[in-house]
Amino acid sequence: MIVVGLHMISVVFMGSYKNPRELTWLTGCGLLFLTLSLCFTGYLLPWSQLSYWATTVATSIPEPIPVVGPWIVKLIRGGDKINPDTLNRFFALHVVVLPAVLLAFVAAHFYLIRVLGISDPRERQSPPPENPEP
Ligand code: HEM
Repeated sequence: MIVVGLHMISVVFMGSYKNPRELTWLTGCGLLFLTLSLCFTGYLLPWSQLSYWATTVATSIPEPIPVVGPWIVKLIRGGDKINPDTLNRFFALHVVVLPAVLLAFVAAHFYLIRVLGISDPRERQSPPPENPEP
């Protein structure tokens, strides 16, 4: 998470997300979301009091959404409360599904870096005057 955050800060400060690298930025947003999802699903895996209650709080966030909120909570938990089925699905997500999707996004990210090229801070500098004064 720290490295992804540092990388994002550097990309923002250097303006490397700008044209023509918008797609590289968007696949990066996908990578950020996937990294956060890995943190979220991984946190339940110790199956301790801390991880149980933290995941109870985190999974109740969508609850106030009108109409679909309670349904979303039930979908994530696989029941009304965190239960062994939640642990099973979080484990499957954490070790199979999310890493596979992450690999696909990393491949797309690298492909775009190869195709669109890496940014050069000098490319946004104003060009030197054509006939400089002597
Ligand atoms: C697992 C996470 C990620 C990995 C492994 C990864 C990897 C890389 C690598 C190796 C580069 C080329 C070298 C560099 O410029 O540092 C790069 C460039 C880039 N990344 Fe990421 N990245 C990740 C997440 C992100 C995120 C979260 C964003 C932004 C939302 C992002 C946006 C970009 C952009 C715009 C570039 C082009 C930079 C340039 O041309 O100078 N990446 N990434």
